[in-house]
Order: sequence, then structure tokens, then C-alpha cells
Amino acid sequence: MPEQSKPILSVKNMSVQFPTLSGVVTAVNNVSFDVGREKVGIIGESGSGKSTTGRAIMRLQPATAHVIADEMRFEDVDLLTASESEMRAIRGRRISMILQDPKYSLNPVMTVGEQIAETVILHERLGRRAARERTLAMLERVNIRDPQRVFNLYPHEVSGGMGQRIMISMMLISSPSLIIADEPTSALDVTVRQQVLSILDDLIRERNIGLIFISHDLNLVKSFCDRVIIMYAGRIVETIEASKLDQATHPYTCGLLEALPSLDRPRDRLETLKRQASWAEA
Ligand SMILES: Nc1ncnc2c1ncn2[C@@H]1O[C@H](COP(=O)(O)OP(=O)(O)OP(=O)(O)O)[C@@H](O)[C@H]1O
Ligand SMILES: [Mg+2]
Repeated sequence: MPEQSKPILSVKNMSVQFPTLSGVVTAVNNVSFDVGREKVGIIGESGSGKSTTGRAIMRLQPATAHVIADEMRFEDVDLLTASESEMRAIRGRRISMILQDPKYSLNPVMTVGEQIAETVILHERLGRRAARERTLAMLERVNIRDPQRVFNLYPHEVSGGMGQRIMISMMLISSPSLIIADEPTSALDVTVRQQVLSILDDLIRERNIGLIFISHDLNLVKSFCDRVIIMYAGRIVETIEASKLDQATHPYTCGLLEALPSLDRPRDRLETLKRQASWAEA
């Protein structure tokens, strides 16, 4: 298979279980998917297992969780057997995760510039001066007009949209080949969201890497991603090209689409989703 079309990530029959006081919760149930050099959306309602799937790939689930799979391969790495120190070398450098709210992910007592520079110093053993240069260039790349000034700001001094662009620069500065973005723009207003998404889109294309984009906003995923994985109760109920979502066959996907307001088909009332127990079965 040519290098270009080989999947970056391959997951086969992965399940994630959490033992709880009231019994075992199967948060992810036997999911299989590949991610190539493309934007793959994972969509599903709250609790459907989207974040758990993302964290399991990074091996960032709590110690009590049980992850089983027939295969979890990232490039040349077997994620099932990689040691913790091998995982540390992968996280942030070869697979990066962008989270919903930068305020929780950035260190509040360190300037944003120092934090981004720290990432390259750690991963690429660059000197301080070279790391600072790289950071300023990266901040410029995410359309921050005055990188020198922003370098010296603390996380509480930046707006949500700027914070998210700072997160993107931090996650992309060490050239990962896969990005997992978990609801990266849900805390932003619509215009700022578009700017952040277009910056992310440019970087993904420019570097020809893979993106897993987790969201519960079907409209957003439909316009932003190439392919969409639809999850319900821990299972993948359907995987479909974003451009073909209108031809989705699974009743849950159809229900989600029906529930979207549309300017083409104005209606007095939006449909509410009528669930069936069979969707959660094998
Ligand atoms: N540490 C944990 N211990 C026990 N159960 C957990 C744990 N983490 C997640 N779960 C359960 O796993 C299921 C899936 O959770 P997950 O966070 O992956 O959902 P999600 O699709 O990301 O939802 P949201 O859209 O709200 O972010 C939920 O039922 C959740 O309660
Ligand atoms: Mg989540």
C-alpha cells in the first residue's frame, strides 16, 4: 500500500469499560475505524462515548478503566503494548489533543509563550532562543497579529478565541501526524469559531495530517469534516462521508438530521428523536 493511503490510525474492536459502584459501565462498545490523512468527525449525543474513544487512543483513560481491542495501531506503534514511556514520547509530539476550553489546559501561572516554547524544548531539545523564535512564528501562523505581546500574556488575559488559537499552536508546533480535537470550538461564538476552524483546516491540509474532530454539532461536522462516525450508546452506528450525510440510512442518524433546523425546509415544529432499544444492540 502506498504510504499516502495507509491509515495513520487503525482501531479494531475496541471497548472501554469502567467499573463503578453500580456495576460495569461499557462506555465504548466494540468500535472499529481507521483515520487517514483526512478530517474524521465523531458525532453523538452526550454520554455516547466520544471523549472516551479519544482518550483511549492517547491512553489517557483513568487507571481503573479497562481497554480491550484486537488492534490499536498508530503509524508504526502498537498502542496496546507500548510502554508508558513510549506513550509519553508520542503524546503531544506525534498525537496531539486539543480540548474544549484552553483555560483548563493551559498552566495559569506561566505565560502562554513560555508554555508553547516549553513544548518544543521538551520534545525537540531546542535551546531557549530557538524555541522562542519557533513559538513566535507559530503564533503568527495562527493569525495572532502581535506575537511578541501575546507571548508574554497569561492564560487569563486572553479571550476564548485567542486561547483556542494558542492551544492549536501549542498542539501543532511539534508536527504531530494526528490531532484529536474534543469539542474544540464549542465554547466560542459563531464568528470566532469559523476563524479558529479555518486556521485548523489550513494547518491540517498544509501538513497533510489526520484529524479526529469530536463534536455534538452535526451541522458543524457536516461542513468541516470529510467523513463522519456516528456514535450511539458506545457503539458506532454508521460511518459515512460528510457529503453523503443526506443519504444516511441508520434511523439514529436520520433522526439527528431530522432534528436540525433547516432554512430550505422551514417547519413549525422540529422533530424530537424517538429512540429504539435496538440501536444500542450489536
Ligand atoms: N471515569 C469514568 N468512570 C465511570 N464512567 C465513566 C468515566 N468516564 C466516562 N464514563 C461514562 O462513559 C460514558 C461515555 O462518556 P464520554 O465522556 O465518552 O461521553 P461523550 O460522548 O464524550 O459525552 P459528551 O458529549 O457529554 O462529552 C458515559 O456514560 C460516562 O458516564
Ligand atoms: Mg465528551
